[in-house]
Amino acid sequence: MNAALWLALAYSSNLFADDCRACHAAIAESFSRTGMGRSITERPAVSPATFYHALSNRHYTFTAGKLKRHQVDAAGVEINVIEKSIDVAIGSGNHAVTYAHRTGQGRLLELPVSWYSQPKAYFMSPGYDAANHPGMSREVLDTCLFCHSDSPRPAAITCRRCHGDASAHLSKPARGTIYNPKQSMEVCLQCHLETVSRGISDSIRQPGRSVFSYQPGEPLAAYKLYFDRADAPQPRFEVNHAGYRLMQSACFRKSAGKLTCVTCHDPHTAKVRDACNSCHQSLHARKENAAACPACHMPKRTAQDAIHVAMTDHWIQRNPKFENPRQENHQPYTGPVVPFYTKADPLTLAVANVREPSAASAALLAKYVERNPANASAFVSLGKMLIQLNRLSDAEQRLRRAVTLDPMLTAARTALAVALGRQGKLEEAARVLEAASSSNPDDPLVWFNLSTTLRMLNRADRADAAMREAVRLQPGIR
Ligand code: HEC
Ligand code: HEC
Ligand code: HEC
Ligand code: HEC
Ligand code: HEC
Ligand code: HEC
Ligand code: HEC
Repeated sequence: MNAALWLALAYSSNLFADDCRACHAAIAESFSRTGMGRSITERPAVSPATFYHALSNRHYTFTAGKLKRHQVDAAGVEINVIEKSIDVAIGSGNHAVTYAHRTGQGRLLELPVSWYSQPKAYFMSPGYDAANHPGMSREVLDTCLFCHSDSPRPAAITCRRCHGDASAHLSKPARGTIYNPKQSMEVCLQCHLETVSRGISDSIRQPGRSVFSYQPGEPLAAYKLYFDRADAPQPRFEVNHAGYRLMQSACFRKSAGKLTCVTCHDPHTAKVRDACNSCHQSLHARKENAAACPACHMPKRTAQDAIHVAMTDHWIQRNPKFENPRQENHQPYTGPVVPFYTKADPLTLAVANVREPSAASAALLAKYVERNPANASAFVSLGKMLIQLNRLSDAEQRLRRAVTLDPMLTAARTALAVALGRQGKLEEAARVLEAASSSNPDDPLVWFNLSTTLRMLNRADRADAAMREAVRLQPGIR
C-alpha cells in the first residue's frame, strides 16, 4: 500500500480507539462520551439562524451546512457576499463550538461565528469581536489541532494521545507494555498548559520538533519551552487555564508533586473525584460537604479570552475574588516575557523577548534560524524584521528559504513579495502574489498586495479586480 494512503487510513477513523475497544470496552465507551472523545466533529449539524455583528457591520446566516456573510449597501442590496461550507466543528460543545471550512486547497479556515452552549446562542468567535477582524481568512493551524485533534487531520482525541505508541502492547497485551500516565501531569499539560492565548507566543517548540511530535512520557521541556508575561501573576483568567492556574495554588506548590490532574479527574469518564479531604482534615474541611468544596474554592468564572464561556478556576484559594469581564480585551501586551514551568536557554529566551526591529534583534533571529534550519515561520519572522530594517536583499534570501521550506505558508510569500517590490522587482513580486492567490485564494491581504503591485505596473484592470476581491473578503481592508 502506498505510504500516503496508509497514513490517510490510519488518521481517518478512531482506528486506534477501535484497536483498544476489543479488550478495554468500558473505557473506550465512556471515553467516547467525554469532551475529549468528542473534540472534533466532521460535517456537524448546525441550527439555522441569523446573526448581525454591529461592530463590523456584517450579517451572518447559518443554513444547512453553510455559513453566509454579507453586508447591505445604502440601497438595501446585499454586497460583499461570501458563503462557505461548514466542514469541521472544533469543540464538543460542552462550552462552545468553533466551526471551520475546508478549502479546495485543503486548508482549514476558522469561521468567525461560534456556538456557545451556556447562552445557547451564536456570537463572534474568540478574538473576532472587533471592527476589523480577520473574517473567513484565518487558518486553523496545526498548533490549534495539536490540542483539539488526534492528528493533523482533524479527528477526535484518542487513547494514543495519552498512552502513546501501542504496537508493543498490541503484540503483547499486558501490564508494562504500554505507557501508563498514572503519575505524569505532563501528558495532560501538553494540551492543558497555556499561559496566555493572545498577545505573546506563550511557548516555543524546541529545534527540530514538529507540532505533532510530542510522545506521551517524554519530558515536556524536550518538546517545548513555556513563557509568561513578566507582569504575572495578574488576575488573568482564560479558557485553557486549568494547568496554569493550578500551578499557582498552594495545594499544588506545597504538596511535593502529590497533586496532579488525575487526583481529581478520571480522564476516561470526565468524572470529578472528591479529593480535597484526602489532604484537608481541618474542622472546617470535615464539616463541609466534599462535593461542595469547589463551589467556594474553585468557582466558575467568565474567561477573559472568550467572554461567552465560564470555566473552573483551578487556582484553589481561600476566598477567590474576581470580576467577570464583559468585553474581550484586545490590549496588546508589549512588556517582557519570562520563562514559565520550563527552563529556557538564553537564546530562546532572548528570541521570545524580541519586540522592536533592531540590528541586535535581527542578529538574534539570524542565530535562531541557524539552530532551526527547517522552521519556515522563523525565517518569516527574520525576513519581516529585515524588511523593516530595509535590508531588502538579505530579507529576500531568507524569505525564499521560507517559501521553499513551506510552500503552503502564505505569510512567507506575502512577505517575499514585499521584499521584492521594495527593491523595484515588481514583475517578480506580482508573480509571487499570483502564486499565493491561487494557493490561498481566501487571504484578503494577498489580493490587496497584488492589487497594489499591479497598479504600479500599470495593469489597472487586473489591479481593480484584485482589489474588489480583497474588499469582498475583508470589507474595509486598508
Ligand atoms: C488483546 C487485548 C488488548 C488490547 C487489544 C489492548 N489491551 Fe491494553 N491491556 C490488556 C491487558 C490484558 C492488560 C493488563 C490488564 C491487567 O493486568 O489488569 C492491559 C493493560 C493496559 C494498560 C495498563 C498498562 C500498565 O502498565 O499499567 C493500558 C494503559 C492499556 N492497556 C491501554 C491500551 C490501549 C491504549 C489499547 C489500544 C491501543 C489497548 N490497551 C489494547 C489487553 C489489551
Ligand atoms: C491532545 C490534547 C489533550 C490531552 C493530552 C489532554 N487533554 Fe483534556 N482536554 C483537551 C481538550 C481540547 C478538551 C476540551 C474538549 C471539548 O470539550 O471539546 C479537554 C477536556 C478535558 C476535560 C473536561 C471534561 C471532558 O469533557 O472531557 C478534563 C477533565 C480533561 N480534559 C482532563 C485531562 C487530563 C486529566 C489529561 C491528562 C491525563 C488530559 N485532559 C489530557 C485536550 C487534551
Ligand atoms: C495549547 C492547547 C490549545 C490550543 C493551541 C487551542 N486550544 Fe482550544 N482548548 C484547549 C483546551 C484544553 C480546552 C478545554 C479547556 C477547559 O475545558 O478547561 C479548549 C477549549 C476550546 C473550546 C471549547 C470546547 C468546549 O466545548 O469545552 C473551543 C471551541 C476551542 N478551544 C477552540 C480552539 C480553536 C479554534 C483553537 C485554534 C485556533 C484553539 N482552541 C487552540 C486547548 C487549546
Ligand atoms: C486524556 C488522557 C487519556 C486518554 C485519552 C486515555 N487515557 Fe487511559 N489512562 C490515562 C491515565 C492518566 C491513566 C492512569 C490513571 C488512572 O488510572 O486513572 C490511564 C490508565 C489507563 C488504563 C489502566 C487502568 C488500570 O486499571 O490501571 C487503561 C487500560 C487505559 N488507560 C486505557 C485507555 C484506553 C483504551 C483509552 C482510549 C479509549 C484511553 N485509556 C485513553 C489517561 C488517558
Ligand atoms: C494533594 C493534597 C491536596 C489536595 C488534594 C488539596 N489540597 Fe488544598 N492544600 C494543600 C496544601 C499542602 C496546602 C497548603 C497548606 C499550607 O500552606 O500549610 C493547601 C492549601 C489550601 C487552601 C489555602 C490556600 C491558600 O492560598 O492559603 C485551600 C483553601 C485549600 N487548600 C482548599 C482545597 C480544596 C477545596 C481542595 C479540593 C478541591 C484541595 N484543597 C485539595 C494540599 C492539597
Ligand atoms: C483539586 C482538584 C482538581 C485538580 C487537581 C484539577 N482539577 Fe480540573 N476540575 C476540578 C473541578 C472541581 C472542576 C469542575 C467540575 C464540574 O463543574 O463538573 C474541574 C473542571 C475541569 C475541566 C472542565 C472545564 C472547566 O474549566 O470547568 C477541565 C478541562 C479540567 N478541570 C482540567 C484539569 C487539568 C488539565 C488539571 C491538571 C492540570 C486539573 N483539571 C486539575 C478539580 C480539579
Ligand atoms: C460555603 C463556602 C465554603 C465551602 C463549601 C467550603 N469552604 Fe473552605 N473556606 C471557606 C472560607 C470562607 C474560608 C476561610 C477564608 C479565610 O481565610 O477567611 C475557607 C477556608 C478553607 C481552608 C483554609 C483554612 C482551613 O480551615 O484549613 C481550607 C483548607 C478549606 N477551606 C478547605 C475546604 C474543603 C476541603 C472544603 C470541602 C470539604 C471546603 N473548604 C468547603 C469557604 C468554604
